[in-house]
Amino acid sequence: MALPDDFLYQLKNANSIEGVMSSYTSLKRTGHNYVCLCPFHSEKSPSCTVYTDTQSFYCFGCGAGGDVITFVMKSENLDYFEAVKYLAERGNIPLPDEQFDENSSRIKQRVYEINRLAARFFFSQLKAQRDNNGLAYLLNRGLSLQTIEKYGLGYADDKWNNLKNYLMSEGYTENELIVAGLCIKSKSGNLYDVFRNRVIFPILDLRGNVIAFGGRLLDGEGPKYLNSSDTPVFKKSRNLFSLNFAKSSNEKRLILAEGYMDVIAINQAGFSNTVATLGTALTPEQARLMSQYAEEIIIAYDSDDAGQKATYKAIALLSDAGLKTRVLTIDNAKDPDEFIKKFGATRFKLLLDNSEGAIVYELNKCKNGLDMESDTGKVEYLKRVTHILADIKSSVEREVYISRVANEQGVSKETLLYEVNALVKKQRNMNEKREWRNITNQITAKRDNINPEAAKYPKEAKAETGIIAFLLNNPDKLEFVKSRLQAEDFVTAFNKRVFISIVDKIGGSKDISISSFNDDFTPDEMGKISEISAKTREINITQETVSDYIDVLLSHIDNTANGNDMSDEDFLNFFNSLKQKLN
Ligand code: CTP
Ligand code: MN
Repeated sequence: MALPDDFLYQLKNANSIEGVMSSYTSLKRTGHNYVCLCPFHSEKSPSCTVYTDTQSFYCFGCGAGGDVITFVMKSENLDYFEAVKYLAERGNIPLPDEQFDENSSRIKQRVYEINRLAARFFFSQLKAQRDNNGLAYLLNRGLSLQTIEKYGLGYADDKWNNLKNYLMSEGYTENELIVAGLCIKSKSGNLYDVFRNRVIFPILDLRGNVIAFGGRLLDGEGPKYLNSSDTPVFKKSRNLFSLNFAKSSNEKRLILAEGYMDVIAINQAGFSNTVATLGTALTPEQARLMSQYAEEIIIAYDSDDAGQKATYKAIALLSDAGLKTRVLTIDNAKDPDEFIKKFGATRFKLLLDNSEGAIVYELNKCKNGLDMESDTGKVEYLKRVTHILADIKSSVEREVYISRVANEQGVSKETLLYEVNALVKKQRNMNEKREWRNITNQITAKRDNINPEAAKYPKEAKAETGIIAFLLNNPDKLEFVKSRLQAEDFVTAFNKRVFISIVDKIGGSKDISISSFNDDFTPDEMGKISEISAKTREINITQETVSDYIDVLLSHIDNTANGNDMSDEDFLNFFNSLKQKLN
Protein backbone atom coordinates (compact mmCIF):
# COMPACT_ATOMS: atom_id res chain seq x y z
CA MET A 1 0.00 0.00 0.00
CA ALA A 2 1.40 3.36 -1.00
CA LEU A 3 1.95 6.08 1.55
CA PRO A 4 0.96 9.68 0.80
CA ASP A 5 3.77 11.67 -0.84
CA ASP A 6 3.27 14.42 1.65
CA PHE A 7 3.88 12.11 4.56
CA LEU A 8 7.00 10.65 2.94
CA TYR A 9 8.25 14.14 2.30
CA GLN A 10 7.85 15.09 5.96
CA LEU A 11 9.37 11.83 7.02
CA LYS A 12 12.50 12.40 4.98
CA ASN A 13 12.72 16.01 6.01
CA ALA A 14 12.74 15.01 9.64
CA ASN A 15 15.28 12.23 9.02
CA SER A 16 18.11 13.48 6.90
CA ILE A 17 20.18 10.63 5.53
CA GLU A 18 23.37 12.12 6.97
CA GLY A 19 21.72 12.46 10.37
CA VAL A 20 20.49 8.87 10.42
CA MET A 21 23.66 7.37 9.00
CA SER A 22 25.90 9.27 11.41
CA SER A 23 24.51 7.26 14.30
CA TYR A 24 25.77 4.09 12.61
CA THR A 25 29.12 5.12 11.23
CA SER A 26 31.16 8.27 11.43
CA LEU A 27 30.76 10.57 8.46
CA LYS A 28 33.52 12.70 7.05
CA ARG A 29 32.57 15.77 5.09
CA THR A 30 33.97 16.12 1.58
CA GLY A 31 32.61 19.31 0.07
CA HIS A 32 28.93 18.87 -0.43
CA ASN A 33 28.81 15.22 0.54
CA TYR A 34 30.10 12.82 3.12
CA VAL A 35 32.14 9.66 2.95
CA CYS A 36 32.18 6.89 5.50
CA LEU A 37 33.19 3.33 6.18
CA CYS A 38 30.39 1.25 4.70
CA PRO A 39 28.14 -0.19 7.42
CA PHE A 40 27.29 -3.13 5.17
CA HIS A 41 30.69 -4.61 4.54
CA SER A 42 33.92 -4.52 6.43
CA GLU A 43 36.55 -2.18 5.11
CA LYS A 44 39.38 -0.02 6.34
CA SER A 45 39.18 2.87 3.92
CA PRO A 46 35.85 4.57 3.22
CA SER A 47 34.12 3.72 -0.05
CA CYS A 48 30.58 4.74 0.86
CA THR A 49 29.33 8.19 -0.18
CA VAL A 50 26.37 10.04 1.28
CA TYR A 51 24.85 12.53 -1.15
CA THR A 52 23.10 15.31 0.71
CA ASP A 53 21.42 16.74 -2.38
CA THR A 54 19.71 13.57 -3.51
CA GLN A 55 19.45 12.31 0.07
CA SER A 56 20.88 8.98 -0.97
CA PHE A 57 23.92 6.86 -0.32
CA TYR A 58 25.96 4.51 -2.42
CA CYS A 59 28.86 2.23 -1.53
CA PHE A 60 31.35 1.86 -4.36
CA GLY A 61 32.69 -1.15 -2.47
CA CYS A 62 29.74 -3.46 -2.05
CA GLY A 63 27.06 -1.77 -4.15
CA ALA A 64 24.69 -1.08 -1.26
CA GLY A 65 22.71 2.08 -1.78
CA GLY A 66 19.38 3.82 -1.65
CA ASP A 67 17.59 6.44 0.38
CA VAL A 68 17.17 6.80 4.11
CA ILE A 69 14.40 4.20 4.15
CA THR A 70 16.49 1.63 2.29
CA PHE A 71 19.30 2.38 4.72
CA VAL A 72 17.12 1.65 7.75
CA MET A 73 15.63 -1.45 6.12
CA LYS A 74 19.07 -2.85 5.52
CA SER A 75 20.75 -1.89 8.74
CA GLU A 76 17.89 -2.71 11.10
CA ASN A 77 16.71 -5.63 9.03
CA LEU A 78 13.18 -4.26 8.74
CA ASP A 79 10.61 -4.41 6.00
CA TYR A 80 9.49 -1.24 4.25
CA PHE A 81 6.63 -0.36 6.58
CA GLU A 82 8.59 -1.17 9.69
CA ALA A 83 11.37 1.12 8.49
CA VAL A 84 8.91 3.92 7.79
CA LYS A 85 7.45 3.48 11.24
CA TYR A 86 10.89 3.53 12.80
CA LEU A 87 11.74 6.78 11.05
CA ALA A 88 8.36 8.29 11.90
CA GLU A 89 9.05 7.64 15.55
CA ARG A 90 12.58 8.93 15.27
CA GLY A 91 11.48 12.13 13.57
CA ASN A 92 8.33 12.52 15.64
CA ILE A 93 6.06 12.45 12.59
CA PRO A 94 2.55 11.13 13.13
CA LEU A 95 1.71 8.16 10.94
CA PRO A 96 -0.78 9.08 8.23
CA ASP A 97 -3.08 6.23 8.95
CA GLU A 98 -2.48 3.73 11.68
CA GLN A 99 -4.08 1.14 9.49
CA PHE A 100 -1.09 0.49 7.34
CA ASP A 101 0.81 -1.30 10.05
CA GLU A 102 -2.21 -2.61 11.83
CA ASN A 103 -1.74 -6.03 10.36
CA SER A 104 1.86 -6.49 11.29
CA SER A 105 1.39 -5.05 14.75
CA ARG A 106 -1.69 -7.23 15.32
CA ILE A 107 0.32 -10.34 14.49
CA LYS A 108 3.09 -9.25 16.83
CA GLN A 109 0.59 -8.61 19.58
CA ARG A 110 -0.83 -12.10 19.19
CA VAL A 111 2.63 -13.65 19.29
CA TYR A 112 3.49 -11.74 22.48
CA GLU A 113 0.29 -13.02 24.07
CA ILE A 114 0.97 -16.56 22.95
CA ASN A 115 4.51 -16.39 24.33
CA ARG A 116 3.36 -15.04 27.67
CA LEU A 117 0.74 -17.77 28.02
CA ALA A 118 3.24 -20.40 26.93
CA ALA A 119 5.80 -19.19 29.49
CA ARG A 120 3.16 -19.37 32.22
CA PHE A 121 2.13 -22.79 31.04
CA PHE A 122 5.70 -24.13 31.10
CA PHE A 123 6.24 -22.58 34.52
CA SER A 124 3.08 -24.14 35.92
CA GLN A 125 4.12 -27.50 34.49
CA LEU A 126 7.41 -27.20 36.30
CA LYS A 127 5.67 -26.57 39.59
CA ALA A 128 2.80 -28.94 38.97
CA GLN A 129 4.01 -32.14 40.52
CA ARG A 130 6.52 -32.38 43.32
CA ASP A 131 8.73 -34.89 41.64
CA ASN A 132 8.48 -33.92 38.01
CA ASN A 133 11.59 -34.42 35.93
CA GLY A 134 12.11 -30.77 35.12
CA LEU A 135 12.16 -29.41 38.64
CA ALA A 136 14.34 -32.25 39.88
CA TYR A 137 16.75 -31.60 37.02
CA LEU A 138 17.11 -27.89 37.73
CA LEU A 139 17.48 -28.36 41.49
CA ASN A 140 20.03 -31.04 40.85
CA ARG A 141 22.00 -28.58 38.73
CA GLY A 142 22.26 -26.33 41.73
CA LEU A 143 19.59 -23.74 41.01
CA SER A 144 17.60 -22.41 43.96
CA LEU A 145 13.82 -22.07 43.81
CA GLN A 146 14.33 -18.34 43.95
CA THR A 147 16.52 -18.39 40.85
CA ILE A 148 14.05 -20.62 39.05
CA GLU A 149 11.31 -18.12 39.78
CA LYS A 150 13.42 -15.12 38.90
CA TYR A 151 14.02 -16.54 35.43
CA GLY A 152 10.56 -18.08 35.16
CA LEU A 153 12.08 -21.37 34.09
CA GLY A 154 9.67 -24.01 32.92
CA TYR A 155 9.15 -27.58 31.86
CA ALA A 156 7.70 -29.27 28.80
CA ASP A 157 7.04 -32.97 29.29
CA ASP A 158 7.46 -35.53 26.54
CA LYS A 159 3.89 -35.45 25.17
CA TRP A 160 3.37 -34.10 21.64
CA ASN A 161 0.38 -31.81 22.07
CA ASN A 162 0.29 -30.33 25.57
CA LEU A 163 1.04 -26.76 24.66
CA LYS A 164 -0.85 -26.91 21.39
CA ASN A 165 -4.04 -28.11 23.12
CA TYR A 166 -3.75 -25.50 25.82
CA LEU A 167 -3.17 -22.58 23.45
CA MET A 168 -5.91 -23.68 21.06
CA SER A 169 -8.32 -23.88 23.96
CA GLU A 170 -7.35 -20.26 24.64
CA GLY A 171 -8.53 -19.35 21.15
CA TYR A 172 -5.31 -19.23 19.12
CA THR A 173 -5.21 -20.69 15.64
CA GLU A 174 -2.86 -23.35 14.29
CA ASN A 175 -1.32 -20.77 12.06
CA GLU A 176 -0.60 -18.41 14.93
CA LEU A 177 1.14 -21.18 16.86
CA ILE A 178 3.35 -21.84 13.86
CA VAL A 179 4.14 -18.15 13.41
CA ALA A 180 5.07 -17.97 17.10
CA GLY A 181 7.53 -20.81 16.49
CA LEU A 182 6.02 -23.00 19.21
CA CYS A 183 4.47 -25.66 16.98
CA ILE A 184 5.35 -27.23 13.66
CA LYS A 185 3.39 -29.22 11.15
CA SER A 186 4.47 -32.75 10.35
CA LYS A 187 4.52 -34.04 6.79
CA SER A 188 1.17 -35.68 7.37
CA GLY A 189 -0.26 -32.32 8.39
CA ASN A 190 -0.44 -32.77 12.16
CA LEU A 191 0.53 -29.89 14.36
CA TYR A 192 2.84 -30.73 17.26
CA ASP A 193 4.85 -28.96 20.00
CA VAL A 194 8.44 -27.93 19.26
CA PHE A 195 9.59 -28.13 22.87
CA ARG A 196 9.22 -31.56 24.45
CA ASN A 197 11.01 -33.30 27.29
CA ARG A 198 12.96 -30.15 28.04
CA VAL A 199 13.48 -27.55 30.71
CA ILE A 200 12.54 -24.17 29.30
CA PHE A 201 14.36 -20.85 29.42
CA PRO A 202 12.09 -17.94 28.47
CA ILE A 203 13.87 -15.08 26.69
CA LEU A 204 12.66 -11.59 27.56
CA ASP A 205 13.19 -8.29 25.81
CA LEU A 206 13.97 -5.08 27.64
CA ARG A 207 10.31 -4.22 28.04
CA GLY A 208 9.59 -7.52 29.74
CA ASN A 209 7.87 -9.20 26.79
CA VAL A 210 8.54 -12.89 26.36
CA ILE A 211 10.01 -13.02 22.87
CA ALA A 212 11.35 -16.57 22.56
CA PHE A 213 12.35 -19.75 24.34
CA GLY A 214 15.34 -21.99 24.75
CA GLY A 215 14.91 -25.58 25.86
CA ARG A 216 17.42 -28.07 27.23
CA LEU A 217 16.85 -31.75 26.62
CA LEU A 218 16.49 -33.80 29.79
CA ASP A 219 17.46 -37.16 28.33
CA GLY A 220 17.22 -39.29 25.22
CA GLU A 221 17.56 -38.38 21.56
CA GLY A 222 17.70 -34.90 20.07
CA PRO A 223 19.78 -31.74 20.10
CA LYS A 224 20.90 -30.74 23.61
CA TYR A 225 19.56 -27.22 23.22
CA LEU A 226 16.71 -25.97 21.07
CA ASN A 227 16.07 -22.28 20.49
CA SER A 228 13.02 -20.58 19.01
CA SER A 229 13.44 -19.81 15.35
CA ASP A 230 13.18 -16.17 14.30
CA THR A 231 9.60 -14.91 14.53
CA PRO A 232 7.89 -11.53 14.01
CA VAL A 233 8.94 -10.58 17.55
CA PHE A 234 12.33 -12.29 17.75
CA LYS A 235 15.64 -12.10 15.90
CA LYS A 236 18.33 -14.20 17.52
CA SER A 237 21.12 -12.08 16.11
CA ARG A 238 19.73 -9.00 17.81
CA ASN A 239 18.94 -10.18 21.32
CA LEU A 240 20.88 -11.34 24.33
CA PHE A 241 19.74 -13.70 27.02
CA SER A 242 19.29 -12.02 30.42
CA LEU A 243 19.97 -8.49 29.19
CA ASN A 244 16.72 -7.54 30.92
CA PHE A 245 18.44 -8.20 34.27
CA ALA A 246 21.92 -7.10 33.22
CA LYS A 247 20.86 -3.68 32.02
CA SER A 248 19.77 -2.57 35.48
CA SER A 249 22.84 -3.85 37.26
CA ASN A 250 24.45 -0.39 37.20
CA GLU A 251 27.77 -1.91 36.28
CA LYS A 252 29.89 -0.46 33.52
CA ARG A 253 30.92 -3.95 32.56
CA LEU A 254 29.07 -6.99 31.36
CA ILE A 255 30.05 -10.62 31.56
CA LEU A 256 29.50 -12.50 28.31
CA ALA A 257 29.00 -16.24 28.74
CA GLU A 258 28.29 -19.01 26.27
CA GLY A 259 25.11 -20.58 27.53
CA TYR A 260 21.89 -20.24 29.45
CA MET A 261 23.10 -22.29 32.40
CA ASP A 262 26.30 -20.24 32.71
CA VAL A 263 24.37 -16.99 32.82
CA ILE A 264 21.96 -18.28 35.42
CA ALA A 265 24.69 -19.77 37.59
CA ILE A 266 26.73 -16.55 37.44
CA ASN A 267 23.60 -14.61 38.34
CA GLN A 268 22.91 -16.85 41.28
CA ALA A 269 26.48 -16.29 42.40
CA GLY A 270 25.66 -12.59 42.69
CA PHE A 271 26.58 -11.09 39.32
CA SER A 272 23.49 -10.02 37.46
CA ASN A 273 25.47 -8.16 34.80
CA THR A 274 25.75 -11.28 32.67
CA VAL A 275 24.41 -12.10 29.22
CA ALA A 276 24.75 -14.81 26.56
CA THR A 277 24.06 -15.10 22.87
CA LEU A 278 21.20 -17.36 21.86
CA GLY A 279 22.70 -20.47 20.36
CA THR A 280 24.75 -18.58 17.76
CA ALA A 281 28.11 -16.88 17.57
CA LEU A 282 28.26 -13.26 18.71
CA THR A 283 27.05 -10.83 16.04
CA PRO A 284 28.06 -7.20 15.40
CA GLU A 285 24.51 -6.17 16.32
CA GLN A 286 24.84 -7.82 19.70
CA ALA A 287 28.21 -6.14 20.23
CA ARG A 288 26.60 -2.79 19.46
CA LEU A 289 23.74 -3.61 21.82
CA MET A 290 26.20 -4.33 24.64
CA SER A 291 28.02 -1.09 23.99
CA GLN A 292 24.83 0.75 24.95
CA TYR A 293 25.06 -0.66 28.46
CA ALA A 294 28.74 -1.16 29.16
CA GLU A 295 32.24 0.03 28.47
CA GLU A 296 33.97 -3.24 29.15
CA ILE A 297 33.10 -6.88 28.50
CA ILE A 298 34.52 -9.82 30.36
CA ILE A 299 34.40 -12.78 28.06
CA ALA A 300 33.65 -15.94 30.04
CA TYR A 301 33.39 -18.61 27.38
CA ASP A 302 33.99 -22.32 27.84
CA SER A 303 37.58 -23.38 28.41
CA ASP A 304 37.54 -25.88 25.53
CA ASP A 305 39.02 -25.23 22.09
CA ALA A 306 35.72 -24.09 20.61
CA GLY A 307 35.28 -21.62 23.47
CA GLN A 308 38.79 -20.25 22.99
CA LYS A 309 38.32 -19.83 19.27
CA ALA A 310 35.06 -18.02 19.90
CA THR A 311 36.89 -15.83 22.42
CA TYR A 312 39.29 -14.54 19.76
CA LYS A 313 36.42 -13.74 17.45
CA ALA A 314 34.48 -12.02 20.21
CA ILE A 315 37.49 -9.86 21.16
CA ALA A 316 37.66 -8.60 17.58
CA LEU A 317 33.93 -7.92 17.30
CA LEU A 318 33.69 -6.20 20.66
CA SER A 319 36.72 -4.03 19.96
CA ASP A 320 35.15 -3.01 16.68
CA ALA A 321 32.13 -1.83 18.66
CA GLY A 322 34.43 0.32 20.79
CA LEU A 323 34.34 -1.92 23.85
CA LYS A 324 37.25 -2.83 26.08
CA THR A 325 37.60 -6.54 26.62
CA ARG A 326 38.95 -8.80 29.31
CA VAL A 327 39.09 -12.55 29.27
CA LEU A 328 38.31 -14.91 32.08
CA THR A 329 40.61 -17.90 32.32
CA ILE A 330 38.74 -20.83 33.77
CA ASP A 331 41.02 -23.56 35.03
CA ASN A 332 39.85 -26.97 36.15
CA ALA A 333 36.32 -26.55 34.91
CA LYS A 334 34.71 -26.60 31.47
CA ASP A 335 32.62 -23.49 31.91
CA PRO A 336 31.57 -20.85 34.49
CA ASP A 337 28.59 -22.96 35.56
CA GLU A 338 30.80 -25.92 36.44
CA PHE A 339 33.43 -23.66 38.02
CA ILE A 340 30.93 -22.07 40.37
CA LYS A 341 29.46 -25.42 41.27
CA LYS A 342 32.91 -26.81 42.07
CA PHE A 343 34.64 -23.84 43.70
CA GLY A 344 31.89 -21.44 44.75
CA ALA A 345 30.98 -17.81 44.21
CA THR A 346 33.92 -16.28 46.09
CA ARG A 347 36.48 -18.04 43.94
CA PHE A 348 34.54 -16.94 40.88
CA LYS A 349 34.74 -13.33 42.00
CA LEU A 350 38.51 -13.72 42.32
CA LEU A 351 38.54 -15.03 38.79
CA LEU A 352 36.63 -11.98 37.60
CA ASP A 353 38.94 -9.59 39.42
CA ASN A 354 41.98 -11.28 37.96
CA SER A 355 40.62 -11.49 34.45
CA GLU A 356 43.23 -10.29 32.05
CA GLY A 357 43.13 -7.62 29.44
CA ALA A 358 42.60 -9.22 26.08
CA ILE A 359 46.16 -8.53 24.94
CA VAL A 360 47.86 -10.12 27.92
CA TYR A 361 45.55 -13.07 27.43
CA GLU A 362 46.59 -13.46 23.84
CA LEU A 363 50.29 -12.95 24.61
CA ASN A 364 50.14 -15.68 27.24
CA LYS A 365 48.39 -18.04 24.88
CA CYS A 366 51.45 -17.82 22.62
CA LYS A 367 53.46 -19.72 25.19
CA ASN A 368 51.25 -22.77 24.79
CA GLY A 369 53.23 -25.85 23.88
CA LEU A 370 56.60 -24.07 23.98
CA ASP A 371 59.56 -24.74 26.25
CA MET A 372 60.21 -21.18 27.36
CA GLU A 373 63.52 -22.16 28.96
CA SER A 374 65.00 -23.15 25.59
CA ASP A 375 66.27 -20.73 22.95
CA THR A 376 64.13 -22.27 20.21
CA GLY A 377 61.07 -21.91 22.42
CA LYS A 378 61.87 -18.28 23.06
CA VAL A 379 62.44 -17.52 19.37
CA GLU A 380 59.17 -19.18 18.40
CA TYR A 381 57.39 -17.25 21.14
CA LEU A 382 58.77 -13.93 19.91
CA LYS A 383 57.71 -14.80 16.38
CA ARG A 384 54.15 -15.54 17.49
CA VAL A 385 54.03 -12.50 19.73
CA THR A 386 55.14 -10.20 16.91
CA HIS A 387 51.87 -10.96 15.12
CA ILE A 388 49.76 -10.08 18.12
CA LEU A 389 51.70 -6.90 18.80
CA ALA A 390 51.34 -5.87 15.17
CA ASP A 391 47.57 -6.25 15.47
CA ILE A 392 47.28 -3.68 18.26
CA LYS A 393 45.67 -0.65 16.67
CA SER A 394 46.85 2.13 18.96
CA SER A 395 50.57 2.77 18.52
CA VAL A 396 50.97 3.96 22.12
CA GLU A 397 49.44 0.77 23.41
CA ARG A 398 51.59 -1.22 21.01
CA GLU A 399 54.76 0.32 22.45
CA VAL A 400 53.70 -0.41 26.00
CA TYR A 401 53.30 -4.10 25.24
CA ILE A 402 56.47 -4.24 23.15
CA SER A 403 58.44 -2.92 26.13
CA ARG A 404 56.75 -5.40 28.38
CA VAL A 405 57.58 -8.42 26.22
CA ALA A 406 61.12 -7.17 25.55
CA ASN A 407 61.78 -6.80 29.27
CA GLU A 408 60.26 -10.12 30.13
CA GLN A 409 62.26 -11.98 27.49
CA GLY A 410 65.49 -10.02 27.89
CA VAL A 411 65.70 -8.79 24.29
CA SER A 412 66.25 -5.24 23.13
CA LYS A 413 63.16 -3.16 22.73
CA GLU A 414 64.45 -1.60 19.51
CA THR A 415 64.85 -4.95 17.78
CA LEU A 416 61.37 -6.06 18.69
CA LEU A 417 59.95 -2.69 17.69
CA TYR A 418 61.67 -2.99 14.32
CA GLU A 419 60.25 -6.45 13.70
CA VAL A 420 56.75 -5.42 14.71
CA ASN A 421 56.78 -2.29 12.57
CA ALA A 422 57.95 -4.24 9.55
CA LEU A 423 55.06 -6.63 10.01
CA VAL A 424 52.57 -3.79 10.48
CA LYS A 425 53.67 -2.34 7.16
CA LYS A 426 53.51 -5.67 5.39
CA GLN A 427 50.05 -6.39 6.74
CA ARG A 428 48.81 -2.94 5.81
CA ASN A 429 49.88 -3.55 2.22
CA MET A 430 48.29 -6.96 2.20
CA ASN A 431 45.08 -5.58 3.66
CA GLU A 432 44.86 -2.90 1.08
CA LYS A 433 45.33 -5.41 -1.69
CA ARG A 434 42.79 -7.75 -0.17
CA GLU A 435 40.30 -4.96 0.32
CA TRP A 436 40.69 -3.91 -3.26
CA ARG A 437 40.22 -7.48 -4.45
CA ASN A 438 37.11 -7.78 -2.28
CA ILE A 439 35.73 -4.62 -3.68
CA THR A 440 36.20 -5.69 -7.27
CA ASN A 441 34.83 -9.16 -6.51
CA GLN A 442 31.83 -7.73 -4.78
CA ILE A 443 31.12 -5.30 -7.56
CA THR A 444 31.09 -8.09 -10.09
CA ALA A 445 29.02 -10.34 -7.84
CA LYS A 446 26.53 -7.57 -7.20
CA ARG A 447 26.21 -6.69 -10.82
CA ASP A 448 25.59 -10.24 -11.78
CA ASN A 449 23.01 -10.58 -9.12
CA ILE A 450 20.79 -7.65 -9.90
CA ASN A 451 21.31 -7.38 -13.60
CA PRO A 452 22.80 -10.67 -14.76
CA GLU A 453 22.39 -9.83 -18.43
CA ALA A 454 24.75 -6.87 -18.16
CA ALA A 455 27.72 -9.21 -18.30
CA LYS A 456 26.45 -10.66 -21.57
CA TYR A 457 25.61 -7.31 -23.18
CA PRO A 458 28.05 -4.81 -21.65
CA LYS A 459 27.72 -2.26 -24.43
CA GLU A 460 23.94 -2.29 -24.37
CA ALA A 461 23.79 -2.23 -20.58
CA LYS A 462 26.04 0.82 -20.54
CA ALA A 463 23.84 2.58 -23.05
CA GLU A 464 20.78 1.71 -20.99
CA THR A 465 22.20 3.05 -17.75
CA GLY A 466 23.27 6.18 -19.61
CA ILE A 467 19.71 6.73 -20.79
CA ILE A 468 18.34 6.08 -17.31
CA ALA A 469 20.80 8.50 -15.72
CA PHE A 470 19.94 11.11 -18.34
CA LEU A 471 16.24 10.82 -17.57
CA LEU A 472 16.79 10.97 -13.82
CA ASN A 473 18.51 14.31 -14.28
CA ASN A 474 16.36 15.58 -17.16
CA PRO A 475 12.82 14.35 -16.69
CA ASP A 476 11.69 17.00 -19.19
CA LYS A 477 13.49 15.07 -21.95
CA LEU A 478 11.26 12.05 -21.66
CA GLU A 479 9.35 12.88 -24.82
CA PHE A 480 12.57 13.11 -26.79
CA VAL A 481 13.67 9.68 -25.61
CA LYS A 482 10.24 8.15 -26.09
CA SER A 483 10.08 9.45 -29.66
CA ARG A 484 12.90 7.08 -30.57
CA LEU A 485 12.86 4.34 -27.99
CA GLN A 486 10.40 2.05 -26.27
CA ALA A 487 10.75 -0.13 -23.24
CA GLU A 488 10.80 -3.13 -25.58
CA ASP A 489 14.08 -1.90 -27.04
CA PHE A 490 15.83 -2.34 -23.73
CA VAL A 491 18.03 -5.40 -23.79
CA THR A 492 18.46 -6.20 -20.09
CA ALA A 493 15.36 -6.96 -18.08
CA PHE A 494 16.36 -5.02 -14.99
CA ASN A 495 17.11 -1.80 -16.85
CA LYS A 496 13.89 -2.24 -18.74
CA ARG A 497 11.99 -2.33 -15.44
CA VAL A 498 13.74 0.81 -14.26
CA PHE A 499 12.92 2.54 -17.53
CA ILE A 500 9.26 1.54 -17.33
CA SER A 501 9.10 2.81 -13.78
CA ILE A 502 10.66 6.14 -14.79
CA VAL A 503 8.28 6.55 -17.71
CA ASP A 504 5.39 5.84 -15.40
CA LYS A 505 6.55 8.34 -12.79
CA ILE A 506 7.35 11.16 -15.19
CA GLY A 507 4.17 10.49 -17.16
CA GLY A 508 2.12 10.69 -13.99
CA SER A 509 4.03 13.82 -12.86
CA LYS A 510 5.23 11.93 -9.85
CA ASP A 511 8.38 12.42 -7.87
CA ILE A 512 11.43 10.70 -9.42
CA SER A 513 13.91 11.01 -6.59
CA ILE A 514 15.81 7.87 -5.61
CA SER A 515 13.21 7.33 -2.89
CA SER A 516 10.39 7.06 -5.34
CA PHE A 517 11.70 3.69 -6.51
CA ASN A 518 11.20 2.12 -3.10
CA ASP A 519 7.71 1.02 -4.05
CA ASP A 520 8.76 -1.20 -6.92
CA PHE A 521 12.30 -2.27 -6.07
CA THR A 522 13.94 -4.30 -3.32
CA PRO A 523 16.75 -2.81 -1.18
CA ASP A 524 19.35 -4.62 -3.28
CA GLU A 525 17.84 -3.28 -6.46
CA MET A 526 17.77 0.17 -4.87
CA GLY A 527 21.52 -0.21 -4.54
CA LYS A 528 21.77 -0.64 -8.29
CA ILE A 529 19.63 2.41 -9.00
CA SER A 530 21.71 4.47 -6.57
CA GLU A 531 24.79 3.21 -8.37
CA ILE A 532 23.52 4.52 -11.69
CA SER A 533 22.82 7.88 -10.12
CA ALA A 534 26.09 8.02 -8.14
CA LYS A 535 28.35 7.01 -10.99
CA THR A 536 26.95 9.47 -13.47
CA ARG A 537 26.57 12.56 -11.31
CA GLU A 538 29.91 14.03 -12.31
CA ILE A 539 29.39 13.29 -15.99
CA ASN A 540 27.27 15.54 -18.11
CA ILE A 541 25.34 13.26 -20.42
CA THR A 542 24.24 15.30 -23.41
CA GLN A 543 21.31 14.74 -25.67
CA GLU A 544 23.72 13.76 -28.47
CA THR A 545 25.26 11.06 -26.29
CA VAL A 546 21.82 9.77 -25.50
CA SER A 547 21.08 9.61 -29.21
CA ASP A 548 24.15 7.44 -29.64
CA TYR A 549 23.02 5.26 -26.76
CA ILE A 550 19.65 4.85 -28.39
CA ASP A 551 21.37 3.81 -31.64
CA VAL A 552 23.25 1.16 -29.71
CA LEU A 553 19.99 -0.31 -28.44
CA LEU A 554 18.22 -0.11 -31.77
CA SER A 555 21.12 -1.69 -33.62
CA HIS A 556 21.17 -4.49 -31.06
CA ILE A 557 17.77 -5.47 -32.36
CA ASP A 558 19.05 -5.31 -35.95
CA ASN A 559 21.93 -7.60 -35.06
CA THR A 560 19.67 -10.21 -33.62
CA ALA A 561 17.56 -9.95 -36.72
CA ASN A 562 20.52 -11.00 -38.83
CA GLY A 563 21.26 -13.97 -36.67
CA ASN A 564 19.45 -17.16 -37.49
CA ASP A 565 19.08 -18.48 -33.96
CA MET A 566 16.15 -16.31 -33.03
CA SER A 567 13.33 -17.87 -31.08
CA ASP A 568 9.77 -17.54 -32.38
CA GLU A 569 8.94 -15.24 -29.55
CA ASP A 570 11.95 -13.02 -30.18
CA PHE A 571 11.10 -12.92 -33.84
CA LEU A 572 7.53 -11.88 -33.14
CA ASN A 573 8.71 -9.14 -30.80
CA PHE A 574 11.17 -7.93 -33.34
CA PHE A 575 8.59 -8.00 -36.08
CA ASN A 576 6.10 -6.02 -34.01
CA SER A 577 8.59 -3.38 -33.02
CA LEU A 578 9.67 -3.03 -36.63
CA LYS A 579 6.08 -2.62 -37.70
CA GLN A 580 5.52 0.08 -35.11
CA LYS A 581 8.59 1.93 -36.22
CA LEU A 582 7.48 1.87 -39.82
CA ASN A 583 4.06 3.25 -38.98
N1 CTP B 1 23.65 -24.57 22.09
C1 CTP B 1 22.69 -24.76 21.12
N2 CTP B 1 22.48 -25.99 20.57
C2 CTP B 1 23.21 -27.06 21.00
C3 CTP B 1 24.21 -26.89 21.97
C4 CTP B 1 24.40 -25.62 22.50
O1 CTP B 1 22.00 -23.83 20.75
N3 CTP B 1 22.97 -28.27 20.47
C5 CTP B 1 23.83 -23.22 22.65
C6 CTP B 1 22.92 -23.01 23.83
O2 CTP B 1 22.49 -21.65 23.82
C7 CTP B 1 23.83 -23.27 24.99
C8 CTP B 1 25.17 -22.77 24.48
O3 CTP B 1 25.15 -23.03 23.10
O4 CTP B 1 23.40 -22.58 26.13
C9 CTP B 1 26.38 -23.38 25.12
O5 CTP B 1 26.43 -24.76 24.84
P1 CTP B 1 27.02 -25.77 25.88
O6 CTP B 1 28.36 -25.32 26.37
O7 CTP B 1 26.88 -27.12 25.32
O8 CTP B 1 25.95 -25.54 27.01
P2 CTP B 1 26.06 -25.70 28.57
O9 CTP B 1 25.39 -24.52 29.15
O10 CTP B 1 27.42 -26.03 29.00
O11 CTP B 1 25.11 -26.93 28.67
P3 CTP B 1 24.85 -27.88 29.88
O12 CTP B 1 25.65 -27.33 31.01
O13 CTP B 1 23.36 -27.77 30.05
O14 CTP B 1 25.27 -29.21 29.40
MN1 MN C 1 29.14 -24.98 28.38
